[in-house]
This record gives sequence, C-alpha cells and structure tokens, in this order.
Amino acid sequence: MTKIAIIGSIRLEGWSILKNKGYDVSEITDFSSTNLIEKLQDVEGISLRTLKLTGNILEKCKKLKIIARHGVGYDNVDLNYLNDKKIALAITGTANAVSVAEHVMTMFLNICKMVKLSDQLVRDGKFTDKTLMPDLFEIYKKNIFILGFGRVGKALAQRCLGFDSKVYVYDPFIENSVIKKSNCFPIDFEEGLKIADFISVHIPLNEKTRNVIAKKQLMLMKDTCILVNTSRGGIVNEMDLIWALTNKKIYGAGTDVFEKEPPNDNNPLFKLNNICLSPHSAALTVECRKRMAIETCENIVNYLQDKSKLNISNIVNKQNLNLDI
Ligand SMILES: NC(=O)c1ccc[n+]([C@@H]2O[C@H](COP(=O)([O-])OP(=O)(O)OC[C@H]3O[C@@H](n4cnc5c(N)ncnc54)[C@H](O)[C@@H]3O)[C@@H](O)[C@H]2O)c1
Repeated sequence: MTKIAIIGSIRLEGWSILKNKGYDVSEITDFSSTNLIEKLQDVEGISLRTLKLTGNILEKCKKLKIIARHGVGYDNVDLNYLNDKKIALAITGTANAVSVAEHVMTMFLNICKMVKLSDQLVRDGKFTDKTLMPDLFEIYKKNIFILGFGRVGKALAQRCLGFDSKVYVYDPFIENSVIKKSNCFPIDFEEGLKIADFISVHIPLNEKTRNVIAKKQLMLMKDTCILVNTSRGGIVNEMDLIWALTNKKIYGAGTDVFEKEPPNDNNPLFKLNNICLSPHSAALTVECRKRMAIETCENIVNYLQDKSKLNISNIVNKQNLNLDI
C-alpha cells in the first residue's frame, strides 16, 4: 500500500483525497530526526508545511517520489538533493495569492489609518485625544510599488487598482508588456523605492534576494512610506528596518515574516508602534487552508497516479524531471 506522510497538520478536505485513493496516510507530530527517519523511510509522498527537511533526513527516504508543499515557498526543502534523486517538489500555486494580497491590504490600511492606536484611545477613555494622533492617510491615488510580479504581486496589484492607486512594478523576469497589460507601470528598482507611498515585497528568498531591502534602500524611501513584507524574513533586513522605524526614516511597516521564526521574545520590533506584526499567518484564512490542503493532496495523487491530471506548473523542478513538455 502506498504510504503518505503528513508533516504539519492539514485540513480534512486534503486527507480525504488521499484516503479515497486507498493510501496509508499518517500524520507525523514528533519532528525529532530519529522519528522522522523512522517514519519517512518507506513513504512515497510527503505533505509538508514549514518544517525544514534537510538532506540527512531525505537521504533515508528511499521510496520518496514527491514532496508536496502546503504553500508556495520552498526554502525549507533541500531542492538540490531532490533534483539529484529525481524527486518532485510541488507547491500549491493556485491557493495562496488572494489571502496574502488581502493580508497586505490589511497591513497597509492598518498602518495608514492607525487602527490599533485608534482602538486603544477609545478603550482608554481618550476619545478626544484623536487630535494628538499621528497623521492618517488614504491609499487613493497613492503610488504603490510592488516588488515581484508573480502570483501574489499580481493579486495585490488588482486590489490596489480597486482603491484607485497607481501601481508600479519591478520584476526583471517579467516582460514589461505583461505589467502594462495589468494596468500597472514597470519601473526600476531604485526609482520605485523613491516614488512609493506604499511598498510590498513579493519575491522568493534566495542568496540574491537576501537583504534586497537594507539601510541603503530604506534611505531612498519617502519618510511617509509604508513598507510591507509578507514574503520571507531576511529579504528586508530586520535590524535596518528597526533602525528606519525608530528614526522615522519611513512612516510605518507591516511584517508577516521574520528572520528567525518564531522571533525571540526580546525582538526590538515588538517595542515599536509604527509596525503591524502577524505570525506568518497571511495564508491562514479558512478558505486558503482548504484550498492548500486540497491542492497539496491533488499534487501527490496526480503525480503518483495520473500525470495527465497534474498541474505541471505546480512542480518546481519539472524541467529536472522532464515534465516541462
Ligand atoms: N506569508 C505567507 O504566508 C506567504 C504565503 C504565500 C507566499 N509567500 C511568499 O511570497 C513570495 C511570493 O510568492 P508568489 O506565490 O507570488 O511567488 P511567485 O514565484 O509567483 O512570484 C515571485 C516573483 O518574484 C520575481 N522575482 C524573483 N526575484 C526577483 C528580484 N530580485 N526582484 C524582483 N522580482 C523578483 C519572479 O520573477 C516572480 O515573478 C514567496 O517568497 C513566498 O514564499 C508567503
């Protein structure tokens, strides 16, 4: 019987897809190396949330054919190892973008309307102190700069256009015509940083993108700029962001992701009131979790049983597996 491991819980809608195929499905909750090695040695498929799966564990999985990420980022998996062994790596490419884009809008609005502070004033009986609040802003007709025009970047652009904003995009891997067709304006990276009222980051974390936004880039931004990162911690340098927020080099920020997750209790970001924080939860709406669970398990089933039904664009290493036909 085909064995499938679920690492990190997923919704039942996903489980039932695997069960209906007659697979032997088990969830792993003890993430110690010894247990992982024991439980994964004869599985053919893995549904994986955020746990880091390194080469020393993967090399013991002799029957493994596919790792299906419950999500789209895959910096927690040793892709080189999977490529060497011709093991597929799948993502849930159609599941996440809307939820994450809505999360960015939430953060933009939260900071520019000072939602947390406003709420606190009323609760503290300081209703009339509203005149002492920092400036509040609109998104209407503002310049939004989106870094990365993939699934999330595109979904965010649509939502910003719905607010009648001007959307500028930097993505060197996307044709300018695609950006223009979406009613957005292609722009250089530095120029985008300079003109933006709001910036949102939607690129993968890799050695080229680590610290893409650090002190030098923060210095280029307007002092009224609001910067949001829902991509991965480390793309925006955390210490430099703390410096910029503390010294009012930018107006505010939002982050769903941290250089270390969970962050340390004494992370200086927690002391700042011009940043909105969330615990890597941008994709955790009920609707999105349901879509992710279904797509993760469909990726496994279709890859193992019927590749004609597989959404090939979900397979990260499709070229390596000669699937990219
Ligand atoms: N917070 C969350 O829960 C959550 C949920 C979903 C996705 N994410 C993260 O969001 C990011 C984007 O996800 P996506 O689904 O839109 O990915 P995607 O692969 O669809 O898009 C990424 C885009 O970034 C572009 N890009 C790569 N390097 C770039 C660079 N140096 N400068 C500008 N553009 C660059 C690519 O050309 C691509 O168009 C990923 O890091 C993903 O892990 C986070």
